[in-house]
Formats: sequence, structure tokens, C-alpha cells
Amino acid sequence: MIHRGLRPSALHRTLAYACLAYAALGLACVNGQPGTDTSNPGVPGGPTAPTGHTVAYTDLQAAFTNDCLYCHNDFHAAGNYSMGSLSAVLKDVRPFDAASVLVVDTQPGGSMYRYWTGDAQAKAALVFNWVVIYGAPPSQ
Ligand code: HEC
Repeated sequence: MIHRGLRPSALHRTLAYACLAYAALGLACVNGQPGTDTSNPGVPGGPTAPTGHTVAYTDLQAAFTNDCLYCHNDFHAAGNYSMGSLSAVLKDVRPFDAASVLVVDTQPGGSMYRYWTGDAQAKAALVFNWVVIYGAPPSQ
């Protein structure tokens, strides 16, 4: 349908530009809701909720040492990624971001998930909670 002679008002133009700007940022222009994608898509029916207590690096250190360090240490850092210290681990961590490489790779379906020993799902969930829910704190 052609609206001949119908000029958009200044307000409409402004709104249109605002939507374009939002679209350029990859955001919906419908509303300003924060992202709701912090659930864990990799664990079907699994732990998506916060653990109820803060998860810190110190809670993960033993699992990292046991399951990851033999490939990811300072002398042999597979994928150029060392897990020998907190600062090294943080290279692949963006606090509160589920797209962090460490999160993606360690969840079910991720390329490193197979290396978890014991309760892999629980360990994956701990990593998810540490990074995405609690923002990767060093200690309790
Ligand atoms: C048997 C060796 C081995 C073990 C064990 C291992 N990894 Fe890896 N990892 C690799 C290799 C090789 C790569 C690089 C290729 C790739 O990304 O698949 C890699 C890549 C990665 C990356 C991406 C690095 C980057 O920035 O590109 C992360 C994160 C990672 N591993 C985390 C882990 C975690 C966490 C564990 C323990 C659960 C683990 N890995 C166990 C061999 C291993």
C-alpha cells in the first residue's frame, strides 16, 4: 500500500531511527528488557537456576586440576590455553556471559565436556554458575 503524500511525523522518524539503532546493536526494538538467555541450554532439564550460594574459582580449582590441567598447563597449553592459574583461566571468561569460551566448551555438547570425570553434568553446571550467574569471583 502506498501512502501518497503521507509524511511521517518527526516523532515517527525518531522512533524509526531508534529502532534502526537498536537493530544495529542486535537488540529488539520492542522493549528494553534485559536478556533472559542466562539459562543453561546445554543441560536438558538440568540445573538452570543459581546454586543458592556463590560459586567461586576455589570451588572449581580441584576439578580443573584433575580433569583439565594435564593438557592446559603452563608448559603444555593445548589450544594455547593454560589453566594453571586464575588469571590464565580468565582469558576465556567474560563475567556474566554465557557465550564465554570456557562456558561454551565445558557444557554438554561442548568440545571439552568429555574430559570431565565423575559427575560431568554437575561440574559443567558449576562452571556455568561460576561464570554466568556469579560473574567469576576468585573466592567466596
Ligand atoms: C586431552 C587434552 C585435553 C584435555 C584433558 C582438556 N582439553 Fe581443553 N583443549 C584441548 C585442545 C587440543 C584444545 C584446542 C582445540 C580445541 O579448541 O578443541 C583445547 C581447547 C580448550 C579451550 C579453548 C581455548 C581457546 O581459547 O581456544 C578451552 C576453554 C578448554 N580447552 C577448556 C578445557 C577444560 C575446562 C578442560 C577440563 C574439563 C579441558 N579443556 C580439558 C585439549 C584438552
